[in-house]
Amino acid sequence: MKQFLDQLSEVTGAAFEKAGFDAALGKVGVSNRPDLCEYQCNGAMAGAKKYGKKPIDIANAVAEELKASDTFSSVEAVMPGFLNLNVSEKYLAEFVRAQMAAERFGVDAPENPRTIVIDYGGPNIAKPLHVGHLRPAIIGESIKRIARYAGHKVIGDVHLGDWGMPMGLIITEIKERKPELPYFDENFDGEYPKEPPFTLAELEEIYPTASSKSKEKNEAGELTEQAKDYHARALENTRLMQEGLRGYRALLKQIVDISIPDLKENYRKLNVDFDLWMGESDVNDLIPAMVEDMKAKGHAVISEGALVVDIREEGDKKELPPCIILKSDGSANYQTTDIATILWRERELSPDHIIYITDKRQELHFTQVFRAARKCGIAKESTGLEFIGNGTINGADGHPFKTRDGGVPRLQYLIRDIEDRMYNRIRENEQAKGETPLPEEEAKETARMTALAALKYGDLSNQASKDYIFDVERFTASEGDTGPYLLYTMARISSILRKAKEAGIAPAAELPLPGNAAQKALYMDMTAFVRMIAEACSERAPHKVCAFLYQMANDMNSFYHETRILAEEDKQKQAGYLALIAAVHAMMSECIGLLGFEAPEKM
Ligand code: ARG
Repeated sequence: MKQFLDQLSEVTGAAFEKAGFDAALGKVGVSNRPDLCEYQCNGAMAGAKKYGKKPIDIANAVAEELKASDTFSSVEAVMPGFLNLNVSEKYLAEFVRAQMAAERFGVDAPENPRTIVIDYGGPNIAKPLHVGHLRPAIIGESIKRIARYAGHKVIGDVHLGDWGMPMGLIITEIKERKPELPYFDENFDGEYPKEPPFTLAELEEIYPTASSKSKEKNEAGELTEQAKDYHARALENTRLMQEGLRGYRALLKQIVDISIPDLKENYRKLNVDFDLWMGESDVNDLIPAMVEDMKAKGHAVISEGALVVDIREEGDKKELPPCIILKSDGSANYQTTDIATILWRERELSPDHIIYITDKRQELHFTQVFRAARKCGIAKESTGLEFIGNGTINGADGHPFKTRDGGVPRLQYLIRDIEDRMYNRIRENEQAKGETPLPEEEAKETARMTALAALKYGDLSNQASKDYIFDVERFTASEGDTGPYLLYTMARISSILRKAKEAGIAPAAELPLPGNAAQKALYMDMTAFVRMIAEACSERAPHKVCAFLYQMANDMNSFYHETRILAEEDKQKQAGYLALIAAVHAMMSECIGLLGFEAPEKM
């Protein structure tokens, strides 16, 4: 469906033309003085020079032409040459009716749907998900859903961190503890045990232990001899694993296999779902040939013992370090696997575009990877490579969010805390209002949904690149620009519709004409849907969906507070109200789905 503003612009443009001016001047936007009018057109000012006329004369001429159109209920030319426009109730209602009847509320499938890969997980095997993984997951999931809704083919890939030094550290620590295992016996050529030699809980302890052993310092603040030795062994074990040592590969597979179900479960709780569960290790076999090709073409050269690609480009403001493909010991690193992953994606998925979402502190890494991949002809010219760097989640002190004891908070606990808080709030509310308590299961489920909304909306309503303060009190508030506020608004609508149904009152089959300003505001909100989706998609901006929802919720509540819906005696009016709020609910539902959460029926 054509966007509402484009339709208004078309009508206004035709009036410009009739009055003897260029139709392109008729561009209409939302009014920036809502106290004066709903929409406005500034084309007369833009055209004044070209036509050698006073803007107000042009505006008056156009206003004269527009008087005949039934699109606007009022058209006013005001000094110095603005056109102040109010849309007619009939035109508005017809647009929204068509929109409600259309698939996806009028969002048309694109002429050229694109294949987009979104790489937005990045959890590291054997390390529990922590607060740092939250933003890429939440933002990526929403960008994925929005792009899909806009009609593109979108593939989400988790891109597990399962290949670098952390794996070498884990192998080193397991070897330290159980050197007798067959994985470490070079002469072993039988089948390795099916059961891994550790539980998930053990694994989660092994990595931090190994990591701190490799970093242990003495009083002077220098690495201890043991730490140096441990680190060297871990490095060597990483290399051996990457080279394909049979026992290490078998061990790696067990580490990955035991971690994935747990990761999946954690992402499921966040309503985050990946189409591909590929990891860095999956592209390992592509690396040798890829490196040979880079060398043969002269793009990769030896520098200080390492194999590197010079990625400097003319016009760079600062000197960028080369992209290291193989370290001096011959091992691949984080850049190498990311470049090989581009190779794999080009071959297997032929994407038009690849989007990466991680912490913005990884920007240099992606600049190196993108440039090296292009220079070496691995990423096609036509394949877009885009990095979206998210800001950090800070605590009240403005520093990256920490637990009370200074650790990095585990995602699981963070979510559980918010759920508990929401659960208590539900029970308190029931008591305060003297309502019959929800059955335990339902109360828990409602708490879960509300907590997720609080968490995700708290994140997504900020621009991805900005840091924000993790303020649980504010995120979980039922008033203000929060997830729970939206859900309360929706639950309010559900409750009215439910009560109407119980009383045998059906919503009108067709949306009525808006009867007053509050209703009109809701219709106007709805007209912005198609444009909002287009912008949220092209700008990768879930916060635009948030702003749309918040405006709609506010207008819904204004309408609710000034309207007696269930007590309305005029049955036709009442049925119209019900149709209107049902439409609002449907649209809000669709939008929160794009943000990655859902609404309970009751709250
Ligand atoms: N595992 C990485 C980390 O924890 C993030 C991976 C992001 N995605 C990528 N393709 N590099 O830092």
